Amino acid sequence: MTDATLDVSDFDHHSTAFAARPLEIAAELRTNGLTRSAAHGGFYTLGRYEDVRRAALDSKALISRRDFDDPLALGAQIPPSQSAGLPFLPVEVDAPDHTAYRRAMAPWFSPKAAEDREARLRHWTTICLDEVVESGRIDMVTDLTGPVAFLFFCEMLGLPVEEWRRWHEPIHTMATSAPRSPATVQALKDENENAEVMKAMVRARRVEPRDDLVSHLAHATRPDGTPFTDVEVGAMARLVLAGAVDSVGSLVAQSLGYLEQHRDAGARLVEDPELMRSAVEEFLRYFSPGTTIGRTVGRETEIHGQRLVPGDRVSLNVLAANRDPEAFDRPDEVVLDRSPNRHVAFGAGIHKCVGLQYARLEARVFLEQILTRLPDFTLLHDEAVPVTTIGLFSGYWSLPATFTPGARLQDERRPG
Ligand code: HEM
Repeated sequence: MTDATLDVSDFDHHSTAFAARPLEIAAELRTNGLTRSAAHGGFYTLGRYEDVRRAALDSKALISRRDFDDPLALGAQIPPSQSAGLPFLPVEVDAPDHTAYRRAMAPWFSPKAAEDREARLRHWTTICLDEVVESGRIDMVTDLTGPVAFLFFCEMLGLPVEEWRRWHEPIHTMATSAPRSPATVQALKDENENAEVMKAMVRARRVEPRDDLVSHLAHATRPDGTPFTDVEVGAMARLVLAGAVDSVGSLVAQSLGYLEQHRDAGARLVEDPELMRSAVEEFLRYFSPGTTIGRTVGRETEIHGQRLVPGDRVSLNVLAANRDPEAFDRPDEVVLDRSPNRHVAFGAGIHKCVGLQYARLEARVFLEQILTRLPDFTLLHDEAVPVTTIGLFSGYWSLPATFTPGARLQDERRPG
């Protein structure tokens, strides 16, 4: 892709060009309707809102199944995920198996379940903010959103919270580094080891269940009454961590950039919880932290006059869809009380984000706490380290900020 023209015929969502000019390229993808690229073995990209939504809903024509022995089942990422020789569950499986996994997970991911755990989320947020509040300096990603998400979800799964880093680092690296880079290769090895640790934990919970998500999944059954295997339970548990790792952090980091420029908006959000809720939806639309969804054509279909055959790969560009002027009035403006807001930041259809209640809760709590406890935060843009590829998630490895020092609220130290 050259700088002079916006030729997207060799479009690659993992390219530095897309990371540098995502919105211009997104506009071009929408104009094209369907864009064919040679990268990653060849794939098509959809960028218009209606196309992306329809494609996500049509889980029969566009499938998610990942089978390491089947070249026609390449999963929900382009290029395919490299998850420890196993598909991620339930995102890399189709109905009816998918239905069984989602049913098993559902009780722990309902609005009520998230509400019930809000106090634990606030607990970890307070602890992580207390670690830095007296210093006047924070890294929004490495001191706050990363640790809190992992302390919270490790606790929910039943993993030792002091070991949160061993789960965080490989997934964070895999989500934000170029495919097949040395960092990704090392992360994959660490992930393989973690998969074994997880399997051992599942076995232990079958014998001695506790009040945690792994115990729940270890004792859940399919509709025919059979239990899930250790590998299946481990894969579901690890996808909860994978889903949590950079998604909300990315959303919050990018939202802070907006709130730094619009201090009056921050004050309004703190005062008005309803506005905070709709603002989080608008930040989800506007920043689209999960940028793409991958699919494989499962049965012959036609899109924009092009015949797609089984095995063809299709990327749904969420970022382009969420800025589509055909679907959203003033798409490039943040409208805090936008309503309706039918964004596709969480996808659509059967795979729509299972963790969305937690994502919304986390985003609200993080923004509210930052705006309340560090109200004069100043982001150190020159020191910020954006991710090197936004092909899966946009955001930052590191986003430092300064603020007027404040007082701790409690004495407990952050584990790990
Ligand atoms: C801003 C935050 C988040 C965004 C933007 C996001 C985005 C997405 C998207 C677009 C999908 C659909 C993938 C597909 O159709 O192939 C998805 C699925 C999923 N997400 Fe999230 N997610 C977020 C937070 C979370 C959190 C916090 C968790 C864990 C608690 C999570 C766990 C999952 C899981 C397990 C799936 C697979 C669901 C299925 O296949 O049925 N996500 N997410």
